[in-house]
Amino acid sequence: VKISNINFTAHNGTRILKMRGPAEVEAVVEQLDQFGFAVVSLQLPPDKPPLEAVAAWLGLGEPYVPVLYRDDAASSVYADIKPRVGDDHPGFATANAQPIHVDGLLDPLGAIRTSLLYCVQPAAEGGRTIMFSSVAVFTCLAEADPAAAEVLLHDEVLERFPTLPGSRLEGVRGPAFAFDADGQLMTRFSDGPTEQWHPPRGREEDLDRALLFFRNAAEQPRFALPVMLGAGECLILRNDRLSHARESFVSEPGRPRHLVRGLYTKVPRPYPATEGSGR
Ligand SMILES: [Fe+2]
Repeated sequence: VKISNINFTAHNGTRILKMRGPAEVEAVVEQLDQFGFAVVSLQLPPDKPPLEAVAAWLGLGEPYVPVLYRDDAASSVYADIKPRVGDDHPGFATANAQPIHVDGLLDPLGAIRTSLLYCVQPAAEGGRTIMFSSVAVFTCLAEADPAAAEVLLHDEVLERFPTLPGSRLEGVRGPAFAFDADGQLMTRFSDGPTEQWHPPRGREEDLDRALLFFRNAAEQPRFALPVMLGAGECLILRNDRLSHARESFVSEPGRPRHLVRGLYTKVPRPYPATEGSGR
């Protein structure tokens, strides 16, 4: 399966039930190859931190602290995503919709290969995570309009910058897409208020067509798939292959929507391939 051809037409809402052993890890790896994401349902004892359990199970190693949060002594390696009075984090602390993005605002393309999102408490209404197959959209665009696709590979075409109140970090420029050492397409395609596009001189119209193509694709079910996480479910996402977005939501009074996120530089691997890698 060529991962750059990820599309969601064949997805039937499959969940992987419980984490047990190699068979379920294999199932996760297969789903990631085909769709770029998988959902597992966890049944853990209450004292067991869910993200640590999933990361150990999938051989993901230690959680990665994104550049944006490195100077913040108070921040943990995990991000609590929960509406809070008095917290003004534009993504984590509100119930607003979030535009299409990859995790790791200031991190280089391909650095964060896996995101885990564990659901403690879903919203009463809305709050689905929308999977967006940026790599498939790019592949289609490259066939339909090669010049428009090519502009997204330019070194400085996409700037992402912090809108966190008080952040002094500068924006970071890089390509929106690139190929890894194995020739697989990687993405940091993001398109919202934390992004600024910088087409090379004379390529402005190529970029306009590319962005129009992506914005239209975001309305098509084969490229954009909403996923609702229930309590105790964990989304495993190839953050170097897919972008994602979030619907706005409404929480039940006294029971705020609450998710916990962990980021990793490794990808889940089946057991035999990781022998001796410290799983
Ligand atoms: Fe995200």
